[in-house]
Amino acid sequence: MPMKPEEYIDVTPEKNHYSLEHFVIPKHYEKDVSSILIPHGVIMDRIQKLARLIVDDTTGPLVVCCILKGGHQYFADLVNQIKALTKNNGMSVPLSLEFIRVKSYKNDQSEGVTISMSESECRELEGKNLLIVEDIIDTGKTMVKLLERLQDYKPKSVRVTSLLVKKTERSNGYIPDYVGFAIPDAFVVGYALDYNEYFRDLDHICVISEHGKKAYAV
Ligand code: HPA
Ligand code: MG
Repeated sequence: MPMKPEEYIDVTPEKNHYSLEHFVIPKHYEKDVSSILIPHGVIMDRIQKLARLIVDDTTGPLVVCCILKGGHQYFADLVNQIKALTKNNGMSVPLSLEFIRVKSYKNDQSEGVTISMSESECRELEGKNLLIVEDIIDTGKTMVKLLERLQDYKPKSVRVTSLLVKKTERSNGYIPDYVGFAIPDAFVVGYALDYNEYFRDLDHICVISEHGKKAYAV
């Protein structure tokens, strides 16, 4: 059951953005972001709640699938929170971990995704309960195609969590089961989200500046 929009945190209003003066930004990125959208501490607190919601809905073993590269930080922090819950609250959710590199492609024949798992790794998903962990849903196209691909391997169930969902007219309407924050239609970086591979080493989720787009253009 996808989350209802009122259940996730809406950080779209411009007035909610934090000034760069309010938090510490690495010196090498000072000019490259225009505002702080979600400070690292708020991200961590939200993940604690998402972990609770996921564990409450889970009975039995879970295969947690990290979508690389952008999802790695959220994945690591989410798994830590789930472990903490199951350690302290007597909840029983055995975890196994999977890492999937997903690349979208488009040519004149078709549109789709390639995934980095071998046939035998994919076959191991049969009959399992999967939790897909993604950093951001933008248009939703990649996730819809990935879910189609995974269905070929007959998992028992598939749920999706994305830390961010972008509010954009380009959205295909796809909404994950567990969402951290709804964000404005701007390019965001930090907390493993990149712009041409840079900014993954920034803790807060920030809006990139025009200076940053130019500095790290390819
Ligand atoms: N930032 C980083 N990666 C992305 C974004 C974004 O805003 N949208 C889709 N992939
Ligand atoms: Mg990504």
